[in-house]
Amino acid sequence: MPKQSNRNTVYFCTECGFESKKWLGQCPACHSWNSFSEEPVVKAAGSKASSKDRPGRVSSKKPVRLKDIEASGEERMDTGSAEFSRVLGGGIVPGSLILIAGDPGIGKSTLLLQTAVRTAELGRRVLYISGEESLSQIKLRADRIGYTDGSLGFLSETDLSEVESLLHKEKPDICIIDSVQTMYSEDVGSVPGSVTQVRECAQRMMMLAKEENIAIFLVGHVTKEGTVAGPRVLEHIVDAVLYFESGDNGAFRILRSAKNRFGSTNEIGVFEMRHDGLAEVLNPSELMISDRPEHASGAVVTCLLEGTRPILAEVQGLVCETAFGMARRQASGIDYNRLNLLLAVMEKRGGLPLGRCDAYVNVAGGMRVSEPAVDLAVVAAILSSLKDAEVPDDTIVFGEVGLSGEVRAVRQAEERIKEARKLGFRRVIMPRYNVSRCRDEAGDMELIGIRYIRELITVLG
Ligand code: TYD
Ligand code: MG
Repeated sequence: MPKQSNRNTVYFCTECGFESKKWLGQCPACHSWNSFSEEPVVKAAGSKASSKDRPGRVSSKKPVRLKDIEASGEERMDTGSAEFSRVLGGGIVPGSLILIAGDPGIGKSTLLLQTAVRTAELGRRVLYISGEESLSQIKLRADRIGYTDGSLGFLSETDLSEVESLLHKEKPDICIIDSVQTMYSEDVGSVPGSVTQVRECAQRMMMLAKEENIAIFLVGHVTKEGTVAGPRVLEHIVDAVLYFESGDNGAFRILRSAKNRFGSTNEIGVFEMRHDGLAEVLNPSELMISDRPEHASGAVVTCLLEGTRPILAEVQGLVCETAFGMARRQASGIDYNRLNLLLAVMEKRGGLPLGRCDAYVNVAGGMRVSEPAVDLAVVAAILSSLKDAEVPDDTIVFGEVGLSGEVRAVRQAEERIKEARKLGFRRVIMPRYNVSRCRDEAGDMELIGIRYIRELITVLG
């Protein structure tokens, strides 16, 4: 039976913060199921009567003209990590509130502890407040990442007012709060981690950040069960939201910006979790294609774009005659339906007998690719395996494939070619339309533009 709301409670979706007077099974805003939790109503502190109710009151505030506003020279603080700084848009903006969200255990505390250590070494005053771990547990982690200089300030605290008064007193340059879901304010009657508590914490931290010009990092856990409020509840309050995620096989950690008031949201940072903390992966392309098999059929290198960043990846295809009546298809790293579609196009437009073949496609390194530019590489990998003819090691392939077997242009082909050239590739098989604009970037590389996948058969021999 649906629960009924008492008079002084409301229901919040723990995924997105949607508010409802009664309990709902599915959230109308974000469509998640069973995510509503009951919380007491909190009167907003600043709710004032509207100006209509107070006739004769004249505001003393005046708008300021843009030309009279002095830019604050917005000096950014270095994070000590090139990858992290890039995702933030070139460093930490003083007085900003940044949410780092991710699954439990992904490495948020490690990333921020390392950042605290590095920024402290660069001369910033840093305070690390943890509501999750005791001070001795933090020390264990610090030992693990090899931090021996003991001058960084730590506090184990969950009471929000304590945190506030300490920050007013200490006024550090950077403060880290791990995590927002453990912080608790007595003014709000609900339990830590509830939507109202989490919002209250973020709002008060936002005011504090602007007042005292402290850059504050909030850690937010992404939760599957909806027992605590997820980071999406806070997305509209904070200045920047960074998601920390792992690749499919967990080898890499990717830091992705979902919102950034002071920078682009296209950037990603790549890290690797080692025994002594997170290490930056400055050139993911090199790593992705480092274990490439030599002279093997069915392996093709392609260039993908992650935001604005080109990354080379290896697409592997394996085709063999089917043992039973029905052909098996398996795709890992690309969409299964997309693979079926490409096989159908190859059969119909390329005249290849793939209906009788099992086909397996894999993107090495655990990458998940959703970009259509990978299509032509998948086609080339399958073709290479089918004919048992290798694609030369120095060749990269990219392009979108349409239903008529046409090879369509892709965005930012120049960037892809630049990356391939940097890593020593000599030949590019690509959409013909893109070729003319890429001549400058290509240098002495050979650009082979194709219009239909049939031509690929000729090109690959
Ligand atoms: P952690 O930063 O505690 O994750 P979060 O704060 O996001 O919950 O990282 C947890 C995982 O990282 C844990 O499984 C142990 C692993 N780890 C390492 O592999 N190497 C290290 O040096 C550290 C500190 C953690
Ligand atoms: Mg943690």
